[in-house]
Amino acid sequence: MTSDRLAAIVRDLMVEPHHRVLEIGCGHGVAATYICQQLQTGHLLAIDRSATMIEAARRRNAAFITAGLATFQVGDFETLELGEQRFDRILAVRVRLFHDWPGPARELAERWLAPGGRILAVYDEP
Ligand SMILES: C[S@@+](CC[C@H](N)C(=O)[O-])C[C@H]1O[C@@H](n2cnc3c(N)ncnc32)[C@H](O)[C@@H]1O
Repeated sequence: MTSDRLAAIVRDLMVEPHHRVLEIGCGHGVAATYICQQLQTGHLLAIDRSATMIEAARRRNAAFITAGLATFQVGDFETLELGEQRFDRILAVRVRLFHDWPGPARELAERWLAPGGRILAVYDEP
């Protein structure tokens, strides 16, 4: 997916500077960069089940990690344990589990949604 397309998707997510954001299946961390650019006191937790992708995403977003704005974690969405954490925005782009919307992925993701929060799931064919 092009950076322009991901930038437009992040605009649709309407991230505010204080938001706690969860990205599922962050891949190389391109959307994560756009999200972090919107944050001041908020935080992004980005997960991907691929350690290789998380390494790439960490490299790309090293400055945001150092600034305390982002954490990148290897994890599978279906088995992820996030304790009491809740998020104002949840994003998943091209993650197959979210293909059938609203499907089981919605129920799973809603566990982590803060009151008034929003989930944006985009699945377009590459
Ligand atoms: C097609 S890539 C899209 C990456 C990025 N969201 C983008 O649009 O550029 C799908 C990503 O989702 C991750 N993924 C797929 N299923 C997952 C799951 N159940 N839990 C966490 N990550 C998952 C894959 O490892 C892969 O990096």
